[in-house]
Amino acid sequence: MKTRVTEMLGVRYPIVCGGMMRVGRAKLAAAVSNAGGLGIMTALSLPTPEEVIKEVELCRTMTDQPIAVNLTILPTIKPVPYEDYARAIVASGVKIVETAGNNPQRVMPILKEAGIKVIHKCTSIRHAKKAETLGCDIISVDGFECAGHVGEDDVPNMLLLPLAAEQLSVPFIASGAIGSGRQLAAALALGADGINMGTRFLATQECWIHDNVKQALVRGTELDTQLVFRRLRNSSRLFKNAITKELVALDADPTKTFEDMKHLAAGSRSPAVFEKGELDAGTWSSSGVIGLIHDVPTCAELIERIVADATEIIRKRLPAMVAG
Ligand SMILES: Cc1cc2nc3c(=O)[nH]c(=O)nc-3n(C[C@H](O)[C@H](O)[C@H](O)COP(=O)(O)O)c2cc1C
Repeated sequence: MKTRVTEMLGVRYPIVCGGMMRVGRAKLAAAVSNAGGLGIMTALSLPTPEEVIKEVELCRTMTDQPIAVNLTILPTIKPVPYEDYARAIVASGVKIVETAGNNPQRVMPILKEAGIKVIHKCTSIRHAKKAETLGCDIISVDGFECAGHVGEDDVPNMLLLPLAAEQLSVPFIASGAIGSGRQLAAALALGADGINMGTRFLATQECWIHDNVKQALVRGTELDTQLVFRRLRNSSRLFKNAITKELVALDADPTKTFEDMKHLAAGSRSPAVFEKGELDAGTWSSSGVIGLIHDVPTCAELIERIVADATEIIRKRLPAMVAG
């Protein structure tokens, strides 16, 4: 496939695996990149900037294809040395970075001086336009359907993508609840130059997480997510389980504050979920694409299937509708 994004990033297919806290490690990134997509390691999954350099070195032993690192800039209880992480990313030699969360202004000079292509992920057109003015090369447009931080505007991709096509000059990729070739074809039709997927890549062979989590995604449906922290204006789409139900109940009680909820959403609960497979032990981001997840393929099988299905639609189904 050839789009502005494949050309700019030097990848075979316009398919990106978005950064995933704790999940996005070297093996998954290498598998996605070897399969023709863009694999991304998540910087903040590593405890120090130096560890990011080691993780990229490890990834390099598994692939010679383009790889990237995600840097998610969000308010945290413990301050994160974002500039140090950005400098470590530069030192690692990767040429593509995915930024997300807040405006990436503080790290842009460090990344751009090193000639790095920056993909900024955001959930609104105004943030996308701002990122464009900051020099971001590609925007990852995260619709309301997406896993994790959905923003507060609630605009889904069927609307957000054509708005992006009207208002952005730089290429953009579609992100949120995507997992099939039909959706890749639709994203391209809506003006995007590629797709970004998170949840779909959780259920792949090379993703290191416990099989219980993958099987929960295979069993689940499009109704198995919940939005938490809506009242606190920090909305997050998570896999529906005992904890998200509790969080939603607390959110509905105006006497409760973040202090009453934070122990439930703590990142320290993640190992019990991802390493031990205890599905109600903590929270994890997921989108309704769960409804389209029916198996646990290799990244190569998944990506080839998506590309083949999209190509079939573009070559056969759509032309037949306008022929004659
Ligand atoms: C388990 C998980 C963890 C994630 N962690 C991050 C993160 O740390 N930083 C980030 O920018 N996006 C994160 N995301 C969002 C993904 O990069 C991607 O934008 C999102 O999953 C797209 O929606 P989808 O899951 O419907 O494909 C995460 C997603 C998942 C599923």
